[in-house]
Amino acid sequence: MKPVIIDKEKCIGCGKCVKDCVSEKLGIIDGKAVFKYERCIQCGHCFAICPTGAVSMRDYPDAENEAVVDMTEFDADKLLTAMKSRRTIRQFKDKEVSAEDIAKIIEAGRYCPTGTNAQDFAFTVITDALPDIEKECVKFFRWGQKAATPFSKYIKNSTIDDNFFFKKAPLVIVVSSKGHTSACLASSYMELMAESLGLGVLYRGFFVGVAKLNPKIGAMLKLEKGYKPVTTLVIGYPDVKYERIPPRNKAKVNYI
Ligand SMILES: Cc1cc2nc3c(=O)[nH]c(=O)nc-3n(C[C@H](O)[C@H](O)[C@H](O)COP(=O)(O)O)c2cc1C
Repeated sequence: MKPVIIDKEKCIGCGKCVKDCVSEKLGIIDGKAVFKYERCIQCGHCFAICPTGAVSMRDYPDAENEAVVDMTEFDADKLLTAMKSRRTIRQFKDKEVSAEDIAKIIEAGRYCPTGTNAQDFAFTVITDALPDIEKECVKFFRWGQKAATPFSKYIKNSTIDDNFFFKKAPLVIVVSSKGHTSACLASSYMELMAESLGLGVLYRGFFVGVAKLNPKIGAMLKLEKGYKPVTTLVIGYPDVKYERIPPRNKAKVNYI
């Protein structure tokens, strides 16, 4: 079966899908859209653009007709201020994150753009296993503080308490990937969704390093073959409130 199926009854031959197809896989024959080649990246632009719902996708038989929202409905200045108001959170309340909110955060990550629509990331949601994983990490870091490890110079004077990694947050999501970029983009989407749910996020770079360096900790994540941890989002309700937006460097912009 072809990856894109056009319902000839519904197709009105408007050509919108043909014009928008990134890999020029569609054409018009006898006033109807046709899929020309076997290979396509299944980005779904044809599905999204069709005014009559004539397109279906082989790999997504249960695709819903979820309506789009016009992004200009969100006030741009307000959105910008909201993005600048985001802060890394390192103090969390003792309050669980609901399964519904976890699902929303993952859904946001799932919809970030990926090169060739690879969608090459996975999400490890850590809740029950969090204390055991943190215990191993803390043990490793306390040892690493004394030994000559890549972390030594960063952690030499740090106090490594029992909550050093996850700061008493109730939830950690590790985004892993075969590449790098897509997992980073997914994480950024997820962070903004978490913030809009009233949650705060800490990217725990140290944890990614530890999971890569220490095979025992890496194995605790139960990642699929070929997947490597890229980011770690420590998530919970903030126990801190910021009043103003801190300054940043001027953007290095070169108009050429
Ligand atoms: C990839 C990445 C890794 C990070 N790792 C850590 C970390 O291990 N510990 C920590 O306290 N903050 C970590 N941060 C947070 C940064 O320190 C923080 O983003 C920066 O100081 C700016 O503060 P802001 O996020 O509140 O604007 C990390 C941020 C990123 C993007």
